[in-house]
Amino acid sequence: MIITHLSAECYPIAKIGGLADVLGALPKYQNELGATAQVVMPFYNNKFTKTHKFKPVYNDTILMGETDYDFRILTLVDNTLGFDIYFVDVPELLYSDFVYTSDDTERFLAFQIAALDWIAQSETLPDVIHCHDHHTGLIPFMAQESYRYSMLRKIPVAFTIHNAQYQGSFSHDLVYLIPEFKFSRVGLLDWNHLINPLACAIKCSWIVSTVSPSYMDELKESANGLETLLSNEHAKCIGILNGIDTDVWNTETDPLIIKNYNQDTVEAGKQANKEWLCNEFNLDVNRPLFAFIGRLVEQKGADLFPKIFSESLFGNDISILLLGSGEKHTENELRNLKTKFGDKYNAFIGYDEKLSHIIYAGADFLLMPSRVEPCGLNQMYSLKYGTIPVVNSVGGLKDTVEDILDGGFGICHNSATVSEVCEAIERANAFYYTDKFKQTRSEIMSIDHSWHASAKSYINVYNSLNPFL
Ligand code: ADP
Ligand code: GLC
Repeated sequence: MIITHLSAECYPIAKIGGLADVLGALPKYQNELGATAQVVMPFYNNKFTKTHKFKPVYNDTILMGETDYDFRILTLVDNTLGFDIYFVDVPELLYSDFVYTSDDTERFLAFQIAALDWIAQSETLPDVIHCHDHHTGLIPFMAQESYRYSMLRKIPVAFTIHNAQYQGSFSHDLVYLIPEFKFSRVGLLDWNHLINPLACAIKCSWIVSTVSPSYMDELKESANGLETLLSNEHAKCIGILNGIDTDVWNTETDPLIIKNYNQDTVEAGKQANKEWLCNEFNLDVNRPLFAFIGRLVEQKGADLFPKIFSESLFGNDISILLLGSGEKHTENELRNLKTKFGDKYNAFIGYDEKLSHIIYAGADFLLMPSRVEPCGLNQMYSLKYGTIPVVNSVGGLKDTVEDILDGGFGICHNSATVSEVCEAIERANAFYYTDKFKQTRSEIMSIDHSWHASAKSYINVYNSLNPFL
């Protein structure tokens, strides 16, 4: 079974968040099950592409409206990813630093058209096309409706919603950029008088998945305007929980952490990583260390952090370390807190993969007060590294973290409010001094959140679309 994944991100090539982690792992695990999974992504101008060698496998021109753009398909020369990877290089539009901007329509449309042009002329067509998030949301439409791609019409298209907050909408004025289709089908592109790639993908894909079952349920109630669409399409909707790549996230072999450890050596291992962090960030090592890693956006509850941190640090003898970047005013407020709390608080504003690994290893608790969390990978990394998650029970957090009071291993709260989060932090602080704390952090390291089961679920879904695969 040949599975072609299309995505804007893939770890370790280009990563903003969990989308990249999923694309860097799921195809590898699908290959272990006997499939031939590959990834197609844009060729960006970033550190990875500057430091690796690529070779061209195809070149041609795409027509967007009335303009021709040259493109090439490249592949990695030394590939150790565990799956084949192809890059769509449209130098005039795509080859810039990898950041999302408010003006991404043309770039990602060029990516999608060039990718489909290349796939459509291949001698061996894929058995399944699997698109991820709105940057690839017009592919299900084009594969089905554009005359140019009629040879792809019978290929099942799966679409995964990693985050319904971002939909990639743009004006109908740009519809002429999409390769020719019957204009009576324009309704498939439209949602609320805009061309909406996410809505379009939900309408045109053969199957739509979310990255956790609870998030799928939540979307039917609240989906940034797509509730009725998702309810209407519920027959083809399914929630499949993400997994984690245990080759990368492995405390015994992780080259990025200060000291490796396993379940038997968890105390010494975590202590060494904590000492390094406390030393580096001027925090007192004797207090319980709470951490946050992530995008500083409303989805993650980041706007509440200044209040949550102030109240918790005044009321409890704990330390807080934050690693994140995002909305500028939140970044500034979080920076300013440093002067207020001395050796109880520090923040690294920015993105740092290595530091994130050390924090998962060295922290005692990981905070995730997300308002919405389609899946969340951080809590699963945290469990694997023996760090107890403190989470708002929504989406994938609800599906992966159970409260210690219910026989589980985390601290859960039921809304993303300052008072609930502070109460949860107090509860975690008290738990730190109980006999059960050390036992719990050793136990959680063995919870299996690897991709094995979920990679199989995706294969079963593809098979249900075409039993002859
Ligand atoms: P989302 O995709 O919504 O950002 P996830 O929990 O799925 O959330 O995944 C976030 C991923 O990005 C994790 O691998 C996390 O460790 C990483 N990450 C987020 N922010 C940073 C940062 N500032 N530095 C390093 N890694 C980060
Ligand atoms: C999104 C979601 C996150 C999820 C990730 C990978 O970015 O916000 O919850 O874990 O995608 O699926």
